[in-house]
Amino acid sequence: MITTKLKNHNCGELNLNNLNEEVTLSGWASTIRDLGGILFVELRDRTGFFQLVANPQINPQVHKVFEKLRSEYVICVKGKVTRRPEETYNEKYATGQVEMYPESVEILSEAKTLPFVLDDENVSEDVRLKYRYLDIRRESMLHNLTLRHKICQAARNYLNGEDFLEVETPILIKTTPEGARDYLVPSRVQEGKFYALPQSPQIFKQLLMVGGIERYYQIAKCFRDEDLRADRQPEFTQIDLEMSFVEQQDVIKCVEGLIVETFKAAGVEVKPPFIQMPWQEAMDRYGSDKPDTRFGLELFDIGDIILESNFEIVKNTLQNGGIVRGIRIPGGAKFSRKDIDDITKLAVSFGAKALANIIYNEDGTAKSPVLKFVTEDQAKRIQERAQAEAGDIIFFVADKPKLVYDIMGRLRLYFGKRLDLIDESKHNLLWVVDFPMFEWSDEEGRFMAMHHPFTSPCLEDLDKLDSGDLGNVKSVAYDIVYNGTELGGGSVRIHSSEVQKKIFKALGLTEEEAVEKFGFMVNALQYGTPPHAGLAIGLDRLVALLCRTESIRDVIAFPKNSGAKDLMSDAPGEASLQQLRELHLKSTAHKS
Ligand code: AMO
Ligand code: AMP
Repeated sequence: MITTKLKNHNCGELNLNNLNEEVTLSGWASTIRDLGGILFVELRDRTGFFQLVANPQINPQVHKVFEKLRSEYVICVKGKVTRRPEETYNEKYATGQVEMYPESVEILSEAKTLPFVLDDENVSEDVRLKYRYLDIRRESMLHNLTLRHKICQAARNYLNGEDFLEVETPILIKTTPEGARDYLVPSRVQEGKFYALPQSPQIFKQLLMVGGIERYYQIAKCFRDEDLRADRQPEFTQIDLEMSFVEQQDVIKCVEGLIVETFKAAGVEVKPPFIQMPWQEAMDRYGSDKPDTRFGLELFDIGDIILESNFEIVKNTLQNGGIVRGIRIPGGAKFSRKDIDDITKLAVSFGAKALANIIYNEDGTAKSPVLKFVTEDQAKRIQERAQAEAGDIIFFVADKPKLVYDIMGRLRLYFGKRLDLIDESKHNLLWVVDFPMFEWSDEEGRFMAMHHPFTSPCLEDLDKLDSGDLGNVKSVAYDIVYNGTELGGGSVRIHSSEVQKKIFKALGLTEEEAVEKFGFMVNALQYGTPPHAGLAIGLDRLVALLCRTESIRDVIAFPKNSGAKDLMSDAPGEASLQQLRELHLKSTAHKS
């Protein structure tokens, strides 16, 4: 360590090897106890705790200063490391066999009473976020930020070793293609014009490939104005990379190496190659493009059987482009009436119009309102398809595919948790590949890019692009999924300006709009573009999962709350009239 006048050793690193050494320590007085006039102080710094003792008989001056100490005062002490009486050894601390009777002590800074007790687990997150600088003193925050640092270091080391160049890209930019809402920054110099903050470095990293950088990475800040959840922040960080002269499998191999190294930094060993599962298979088996494969409860399809039956309402749905998917819950026949009603309500809250069930009684009979619509043979085939046994229950939903996958995927996760099927010790990594290029949006009434508009369509699907069969165009895109969370995503990019124009057209952008938004990108593609591909990993999600915490807020030093607010600094704040005028803005909040 770099030694200074105030500190030449770390509190948490002293032990019997340091006996009789003269050391200078600085840190926070974390707990102060008075035992029969002798004062004991746990001195804390980043590395741990060290016990200080002040005895008025031994050093009255030091004891006098110690009497003034309150919790969280910052102090500097000098003295000799001594052995504790053996019966007072403290197993809890690495330094539990040593202590110091300081020869001198200086109070560097006093502290008001803290608004909360640091290690009290019941303090609300709002209070912690308001006083985040105190919250960071807690052991778990220190642990999370330290692990984040180690993971970044591991990523950098690995990518440096693979010949990547770390290049910074701008924050004040035009617009990005990721599909969330942009944060805008008004320009003072260019009246009425706005910068956007990057949703990702996507365009710039591709332009770096046009620029011949060949292998780029960046630990990049991204900004997205979207509805927040535990795993989403308005500003977050990506380990972002891009490579030239590669194909999908090359990126996958490179990222698998990156995953191995970053996981290793957290003490987790994983072994590539990871499974590559086509998107359609993930949806059919798990109802999700980020399947949690730590447990079974795979979905099944009974559409063909229902089409032969008299189950008119569901047949109708199937004949109009719908699908039906079911799930078998082992032992579920014993669910109560109310329980089944609650599960149905849950499915309705996920968007289901109805949730059908069939109960397979222990005595071999089956019970369900839907059995009246099917023949005995059809009922038998449904049971076989579901692999249902006496004592089980099956649920199924028919509707538009997207909705059915979503409802059944969420029900599957619900039952996985409820039945305690998830093995938390597993580290399941898999690739989801062969994504559709486009996704129909009811809201927008048009096809949208499933990844972003620079993703390459599968070359064999180019004619479908021309004939307008957009729903069946696949893309060369891939996501990496860890225990049911999307860790990262990427794609092979379009490197032909002609194909790029076709995609913009398919997305409903007029030529003028495309030129206005991404013209420089289309231009750049015309000057010799290497085939290129890349991917970005959500660093906050990666660290949160490796810290085994539910919320990415726990691994970000100064996060926003679910209202996109920084409770500590009270951002976003108001702007003065003067500032607004300079920016050529009017605010309805100000009355001028
Ligand atoms: P994508 O949009 O899939 O891809 O983002 C990549 C990864 O970033 C993380 N992520 C987030 N983390 C926290 N808060 C958010 N609001 C948030 N949004 C995304 C996720 C996600 O998997 N430019 C492309 C990558 C590429 O094609 O190379 C991109 O940004 O973990
Ligand atoms: P009913 O004719 O109203 O008794 O409905 C018969 C069964 O069909 C009920 O158990 C419903 O849950 C089921 N049902 C109706 N629509 C759907 C649907 N879209 N998906 C699954 N089950 C359905």
